Parts: sequence; C-alpha cells; structure tokens
Amino acid sequence: MLIIDGKKVSLYLKNELKATIESCKASTGKVPGLTIIIVGQDPASQGYVRNKAKTCKEIGMNSTLIEMPAETTQELLLDTIHELNNDPAVHGILVQEPLPEHIDEFTVTLAIDPSKDVDGFHPENLGCLVMGHLDKCFVSCTPSGILELLDRYKIETKGKHCVVVGRSNIVGKPMANLMLQKLDAANCTVTICHSATENISFYTKQADILIVAVGHARFITADMVKPGVVVIDVGNNRIEDPAAKSGYRMVGDVDFDCVSALASAMTPVPGGVGPMTIAMLMKNTLQSFKRFNGL
Ligand code: GUN
Repeated sequence: MLIIDGKKVSLYLKNELKATIESCKASTGKVPGLTIIIVGQDPASQGYVRNKAKTCKEIGMNSTLIEMPAETTQELLLDTIHELNNDPAVHGILVQEPLPEHIDEFTVTLAIDPSKDVDGFHPENLGCLVMGHLDKCFVSCTPSGILELLDRYKIETKGKHCVVVGRSNIVGKPMANLMLQKLDAANCTVTICHSATENISFYTKQADILIVAVGHARFITADMVKPGVVVIDVGNNRIEDPAAKSGYRMVGDVDFDCVSALASAMTPVPGGVGPMTIAMLMKNTLQSFKRFNGL
C-alpha cells in the first residue's frame, strides 16, 4: 500500500515557494503578506493559526496574527477586514473558522475582498471554481492540496468514480467540483454522500477514489470500501490516548489500520492532507502578491 505523504510533498512545495519569494523580493523589494484573524480562544484554532503564521516565516512571507477576544462585535470584525482590504501590504486575509455564534460567518466571508480571499471561501471564488476558471480564482486550500497530492503521486483519476463523503463549503463542495472538472482537474465521475445519505456504504464501496471529510473519528471502516481504493482522509480528530504524553492523539475520519489493508494508496493522519492545506494557503498568498504586483 502506497502512503501518500503530504508532509513530504508540502516540504517540496514550501521550498519551491521560498525560492520564488526570494526572487520576487530581489526584483521588487517586496514580499507577500498574509494577515490571519482569530476571534476567541478555541485551542484547536489557536494551534492552526500559529502553524500558518510559522509557515509564513519559514518561507520568507510576512504574517500578522490579529487575536480578538470572543466578545468582539461583528461590526468591529468587519471594520478590521475593511481596513485590511485597503492595506496594500496585505495580499491575503484569513479569518479562522469557526467564529463565535453571535458572528455570522457568511457576512464575514462576503466582507473579504475576493482578490485577497486566499481561503477561497468567497462566493466569487467558489463560483469561479464551479465554473472551471481555476486560473482566475483562489481555490480553497484543502481541496487544491488534495488535487496536488493526486497529481504528484500520479493517481489515475480520468473516468474513475470518486466518492466524496461530506458536503461542507470548505471541503466537500469544492472538492467534488474539482474532481468533476476536466481541465486542470480530475475528470472523474463524482458522487457526494452526507449525513442524510441512506446506506452510505452502498456508495463508498463503489469508490475508486474515496475522499472523506466528515469530522468523525474512524467513520469509514474496512467493510465500507472496495479493495484497491485510493483513500484521502481529511479528518483531524482528537481522541483520548492515556499512553500519549499529551493524553490525546489525532486520528482521521478513516480507520487507518483496517482500511489500509485493502487500499492501494492512502493518506495518513497526521502527515497527509493537513500539511498540504497550509502549503496551498502559502501558494494562494504568493499568487495574490504576484497579481497585485503584475508579476
Ligand atoms: N477552519 C478550519 N479550516 C479552516 C481553513 O482552511 N480556513 C479558515 N479560515 N478556517 C478554517
């Protein structure tokens, strides 16, 4: 069974990005800048944003982390975004989700200038993706990272049956659309399953490529897949583990131990999709910088 090593591919990618940023700096005297906003104290989100800021630094990009208290009003958050929209040193704006309940995530997404929406969450970017204009939009980072992995590992996708489990705006919907598309994408036949799908294993067993993003630890078990399947596990679930120093460990949405005995290729958790998401965020921010500077 082939391990699809997202950590390794993300390192290649980050090195490529670092070299490009250095040459951009030499020619323009400027570097890309990403501003990350986090509202509240959610420990998982705090970890994610710190990781994103750290990666910016590693590859020579500027990053600013704006930490706002959980009681922050929607109005103040929107004002902050408007200022960043107008700041020429900011090429990417990321508002970490989930947001506190009193803030409407869609209103916040709409407030971000689509040309700085490096998450690819704005309807202008998502709409552009659905219509197949991948070169004219920001493609959301987890789905584009998965496409990059399939490409780098030369996984045959054309004409294959891809089953996406999960229908979120961040992963499931853009992922299914990318797998469906012909140019610069996968050219698959696509099925989307979700929490209301009856007899879900009827569908998952038909998958040549199975992409799972449901947020339930070990949701997919060996009896739900066919031998030879390529499995992409987007899950990142904390489970208690008394043997671990921290008292917990991360597992995916797929039961790795039993499914890997049947799969032909599979992403591990951690070290699969997660590192690719951050690398693609960096790639989008560099792309934004290049567009703003006519490069
Ligand atoms: N929360 C979980 N994943 C993401 C992501 O990729 N971007 C943002 N903004 N929030 C998230």
